[in-house]
Amino acid sequence: MTVHDTIERPTGAILCPAELLAAARRYAGDARVWAERSDPPIGRRTYGLLDLTDDVEIWAIRWPAGGTLELHDHGGSAGALFVIEGNLQESFVTALGHLGRRRIRASSGTAFGPGYIHDVTNPGPTATSVHAYSPPMTFYRATADGPVAVRTEYRSDPSWAP
Ligand SMILES: [Fe+2]
Repeated sequence: MTVHDTIERPTGAILCPAELLAAARRYAGDARVWAERSDPPIGRRTYGLLDLTDDVEIWAIRWPAGGTLELHDHGGSAGALFVIEGNLQESFVTALGHLGRRRIRASSGTAFGPGYIHDVTNPGPTATSVHAYSPPMTFYRATADGPVAVRTEYRSDPSWAP
Protein backbone atom coordinates (compact mmCIF):
# COMPACT_ATOMS: atom_id res chain seq x y z
CA MET A 1 0.00 0.00 0.00
CA THR A 2 1.33 3.44 -0.91
CA VAL A 3 0.53 6.80 0.62
CA HIS A 4 -1.75 7.46 -2.36
CA ASP A 5 -3.84 4.41 -1.53
CA THR A 6 -4.78 5.98 1.81
CA ILE A 7 -5.90 9.35 0.41
CA GLU A 8 -9.61 9.97 0.54
CA ARG A 9 -10.52 11.39 -2.85
CA PRO A 10 -13.64 13.11 -4.17
CA THR A 11 -16.20 10.63 -5.40
CA GLY A 12 -16.68 12.06 -8.87
CA ALA A 13 -16.46 9.77 -11.87
CA ILE A 14 -13.28 9.65 -13.93
CA LEU A 15 -14.01 10.32 -17.58
CA CYS A 16 -12.17 8.40 -20.30
CA PRO A 17 -10.32 10.18 -23.15
CA ALA A 18 -13.23 9.76 -25.61
CA GLU A 19 -15.68 11.25 -23.12
CA LEU A 20 -13.29 14.13 -22.49
CA LEU A 21 -12.95 14.88 -26.19
CA ALA A 22 -16.74 14.91 -26.49
CA ALA A 23 -16.93 17.22 -23.47
CA ALA A 24 -14.32 19.59 -24.92
CA ARG A 25 -16.29 19.71 -28.18
CA ARG A 26 -19.52 20.51 -26.29
CA TYR A 27 -17.86 23.55 -24.73
CA ALA A 28 -16.70 24.99 -28.06
CA GLY A 29 -19.52 27.55 -28.07
CA ASP A 30 -18.73 28.70 -24.53
CA ALA A 31 -15.06 28.95 -25.47
CA ARG A 32 -15.88 31.16 -28.46
CA VAL A 33 -17.87 33.52 -26.22
CA TRP A 34 -15.03 33.59 -23.70
CA ALA A 35 -12.47 34.25 -26.47
CA GLU A 36 -14.48 37.18 -27.84
CA ARG A 37 -14.60 38.75 -24.36
CA SER A 38 -11.00 38.08 -23.31
CA ASP A 39 -7.86 40.09 -23.93
CA PRO A 40 -5.90 39.11 -27.02
CA PRO A 41 -3.10 36.65 -26.26
CA ILE A 42 -0.17 38.97 -26.95
CA GLY A 43 3.10 37.23 -26.15
CA ARG A 44 1.57 34.70 -23.78
CA ARG A 45 -1.35 32.34 -23.54
CA THR A 46 -4.55 33.46 -21.89
CA TYR A 47 -6.89 30.97 -20.35
CA GLY A 48 -10.21 30.76 -18.59
CA LEU A 49 -11.97 28.11 -16.60
CA LEU A 50 -15.28 27.25 -18.30
CA ASP A 51 -16.50 24.59 -15.90
CA LEU A 52 -15.42 22.59 -12.89
CA THR A 53 -17.21 19.62 -11.35
CA ASP A 54 -16.13 16.68 -9.22
CA ASP A 55 -15.57 14.82 -12.51
CA VAL A 56 -13.95 17.23 -14.90
CA GLU A 57 -12.41 20.66 -15.45
CA ILE A 58 -12.88 22.49 -18.74
CA TRP A 59 -10.53 25.27 -19.87
CA ALA A 60 -10.40 27.60 -22.85
CA ILE A 61 -6.95 28.71 -23.98
CA ARG A 62 -5.96 31.35 -26.53
CA TRP A 63 -2.53 30.91 -28.03
CA PRO A 64 -0.49 33.80 -29.45
CA ALA A 65 1.49 33.20 -32.63
CA GLY A 66 4.42 30.99 -31.65
CA GLY A 67 2.94 30.34 -28.20
CA THR A 68 4.15 27.10 -26.71
CA LEU A 69 4.12 25.01 -23.58
CA GLU A 70 7.06 22.77 -22.71
CA LEU A 71 6.77 18.99 -22.45
CA HIS A 72 4.55 18.11 -19.50
CA ASP A 73 2.11 15.53 -18.22
CA HIS A 74 -1.17 15.84 -16.36
CA GLY A 75 -0.32 13.46 -13.55
CA GLY A 76 -3.04 10.88 -13.08
CA SER A 77 -5.61 12.77 -15.12
CA ALA A 78 -6.83 11.90 -18.60
CA GLY A 79 -7.31 14.83 -20.95
CA ALA A 80 -8.46 16.12 -24.31
CA LEU A 81 -8.02 19.23 -26.40
CA PHE A 82 -10.26 20.48 -29.17
CA VAL A 83 -9.19 23.32 -31.47
CA ILE A 84 -11.84 25.86 -32.41
CA GLU A 85 -9.69 28.55 -34.11
CA GLY A 86 -6.38 28.24 -35.95
CA ASN A 87 -4.39 25.07 -35.54
CA LEU A 88 -1.95 23.64 -33.02
CA GLN A 89 1.14 21.47 -33.30
CA GLU A 90 1.45 18.73 -30.68
CA SER A 91 4.59 16.77 -29.87
CA PHE A 92 4.03 13.69 -27.74
CA VAL A 93 6.02 10.82 -26.32
CA THR A 94 5.05 7.53 -27.95
CA ALA A 95 4.79 4.15 -26.22
CA LEU A 96 8.31 3.43 -27.51
CA GLY A 97 9.67 6.63 -26.01
CA HIS A 98 10.07 8.48 -29.30
CA LEU A 99 8.73 11.94 -29.99
CA GLY A 100 5.72 11.96 -32.33
CA ARG A 101 4.25 15.06 -33.86
CA ARG A 102 0.87 15.99 -35.25
CA ARG A 103 -1.08 19.02 -36.40
CA ILE A 104 -4.49 19.55 -34.83
CA ARG A 105 -6.64 21.68 -37.08
CA ALA A 106 -9.75 23.71 -36.25
CA SER A 107 -12.82 21.56 -35.50
CA SER A 108 -10.68 18.59 -34.53
CA GLY A 109 -8.98 17.38 -31.40
CA THR A 110 -7.07 14.67 -29.59
CA ALA A 111 -7.38 12.89 -26.26
CA PHE A 112 -5.07 10.97 -23.95
CA GLY A 113 -4.94 8.88 -20.82
CA PRO A 114 -3.07 9.41 -17.53
CA GLY A 115 0.71 9.80 -17.76
CA TYR A 116 0.68 11.09 -21.34
CA ILE A 117 3.57 13.50 -22.05
CA HIS A 118 3.21 16.23 -24.67
CA ASP A 119 3.81 19.81 -25.61
CA VAL A 120 1.66 22.12 -27.69
CA THR A 121 2.73 24.99 -29.96
CA ASN A 122 0.79 27.43 -32.07
CA PRO A 123 2.67 27.71 -35.38
CA GLY A 124 0.30 30.27 -36.88
CA PRO A 125 -1.77 33.28 -35.93
CA THR A 126 -3.95 33.26 -32.81
CA ALA A 127 -5.44 29.87 -31.99
CA THR A 128 -8.12 28.94 -29.46
CA SER A 129 -8.65 25.52 -27.94
CA VAL A 130 -10.79 23.81 -25.33
CA HIS A 131 -9.16 21.46 -22.82
CA ALA A 132 -10.85 18.91 -20.57
CA TYR A 133 -9.21 16.99 -17.71
CA SER A 134 -10.50 14.28 -15.41
CA PRO A 135 -10.18 14.00 -12.53
CA PRO A 136 -9.65 17.71 -11.82
CA MET A 137 -6.86 18.99 -9.61
CA THR A 138 -7.62 18.22 -5.98
CA PHE A 139 -6.59 20.05 -2.81
CA TYR A 140 -6.07 18.21 0.48
CA ARG A 141 -6.06 19.03 4.17
CA ALA A 142 -3.43 17.28 6.28
CA THR A 143 -4.95 15.42 9.23
CA ALA A 144 -3.58 13.06 11.86
CA ASP A 145 -5.07 10.24 9.79
CA GLY A 146 -3.49 11.42 6.56
CA PRO A 147 -4.48 13.80 3.71
CA VAL A 148 -8.20 14.38 3.17
CA ALA A 149 -9.49 15.84 -0.08
CA VAL A 150 -11.29 19.11 0.57
CA ARG A 151 -12.05 20.53 -2.84
CA THR A 152 -11.23 20.56 -6.51
CA GLU A 153 -10.25 23.97 -7.73
CA TYR A 154 -7.98 25.61 -10.24
CA ARG A 155 -5.00 27.52 -9.01
CA SER A 156 -5.03 31.30 -9.17
CA ASP A 157 -1.28 31.38 -9.81
CA PRO A 158 -1.04 33.08 -13.24
CA SER A 159 2.12 31.18 -14.10
CA TRP A 160 0.17 27.97 -14.10
CA ALA A 161 -2.16 26.73 -16.80
CA PRO A 162 -3.30 23.32 -17.94
FE1 LIG B 1 -1.19 19.31 -21.69
